[in-house]
Amino acid sequence: MPDAVFRHEEDELTLPAYVGTEGEIGVDIGNLRASLGVVTVDRGFANTAEGASSVSYINGEEGILRYRGYPIEQLAEQASFLEVAYLLQYGELPTIAELGAYEDAITQHTLLREDVKHLFEAFPHSAHPMQILASATSALATYYPDALDPLDVEAVDISSRRLIAKTPTMIAWSYKYGVHQPYVYPDNDLDYASSFLRMMFAVPAEDYVADPVVTRTLNMLLILHADHGQNCSASAVRLVGSGQANIFSSVAAGIHALSGPLHGGANQSVLEMLTRIVESGDQIETVIKKAKDKDDPFRLMGFGHRIYKNFDPRAQILKKAAEDVLTALGVDDPLLDLAMELEGIALSDEYFVERKLYPNVDFYSGIIYRAMGFPTDMFTVLFAMGRLPGWISQWRELSADPDTKIFRPRQLYTGSPERSFVPRQDR
Ligand code: CMC
Repeated sequence: MPDAVFRHEEDELTLPAYVGTEGEIGVDIGNLRASLGVVTVDRGFANTAEGASSVSYINGEEGILRYRGYPIEQLAEQASFLEVAYLLQYGELPTIAELGAYEDAITQHTLLREDVKHLFEAFPHSAHPMQILASATSALATYYPDALDPLDVEAVDISSRRLIAKTPTMIAWSYKYGVHQPYVYPDNDLDYASSFLRMMFAVPAEDYVADPVVTRTLNMLLILHADHGQNCSASAVRLVGSGQANIFSSVAAGIHALSGPLHGGANQSVLEMLTRIVESGDQIETVIKKAKDKDDPFRLMGFGHRIYKNFDPRAQILKKAAEDVLTALGVDDPLLDLAMELEGIALSDEYFVERKLYPNVDFYSGIIYRAMGFPTDMFTVLFAMGRLPGWISQWRELSADPDTKIFRPRQLYTGSPERSFVPRQDR
């Protein structure tokens, strides 16, 4: 690949260019400041690759998402979530024996220490599950000081397994605490999704056996969310990890990053938006007009994506799944009809067409979660549970890479020039 040339005033610098597996070109500006004394400005890192990654590939123009080379459509239909978690971390699909051993290893770590319960009880019952999950994830590091060294591969492996095993328990317990019900322990005879559903919905007076449609759907939803390149939360995980913070702290940072409504929190916001439209009786046209109004901060939640400019392949799978799952469960939800109508109108509106704004993964996922019985404020923790293997894989990739440097962006200082301190009485 021919190098690139950067020109500034009289100076010129040759910059090496690299090509990724799928032909994407990256120009390395690593020597720019040292050579020419200038930095680049890139709002939202829209044009910046911090480094290389081999975990997932996204082509936003063509609507492609692959994990380790495997198309998301094939994984969503044929794989199990733990199989995908293995694939993302270790780079290859597991053999039957490897998958069995991995599932056993995860199963061994599903319990939380009994005293973790006190942590849950320190929160108000109204606490948002994302806040509880981030805090509990961070707290896990205090229980496993033996396995925190980011440079010890074996320790990282154990911590990664603990995280994947214990997160469903933490999520289910945050829910149980919120609804004043006793905690339900994991059942290691069940698969990952079924055990989680049981912890969520069983009560001592009545066991819960998940409908196979619900288990299958949850498995698919977790896979669809499992990784997505250098998104906001994965970047947060990597940034914290670049300082050699332990994996629990790094993942807790990712959970916080995911909680925002422009990122994972959008799935909750979509449902709230649809509910508001139904309750207010607003016309869809009024909502679309509001979303287009530059003076109104309202955005059509679940629409738009930094990378996808054609369609989000996850949203396509989910739109079809929403129809299928609701039919299979016998749920008639007016919010699904509303979402479809809203999508149809937005997709034919010039504003959305011009800006290439399409439904994203969060547009239909909430309707499915709702049909499965999850309350709205649990949607984003379900996203976190799915994204966990991606965060872990990217953190492991970064920690194992000898070329990793601590993330430390430059800035363009635009504050006051130097001035002298003015004593208090003279101000
Ligand atoms: N409704 C109305 N206008 C929108 C929307 C929307 N949902 N999204 C983008 N726009 C407009 C935006 O106002 C801008 O218009 P203009 O060029 O006239 O100023 C243009 O489209 C480009 O938007 P942007 O904000 O520069 O794009 P971005 O890449 O920085 O932001 C986004 C991407 C996902 C944050 C944004 O589309 C958005 O806020 N969407 C709604 C929230 C949402 O659904 N988030 C979930 C994202 S997917 C899953 C995940 O990552 O967690």
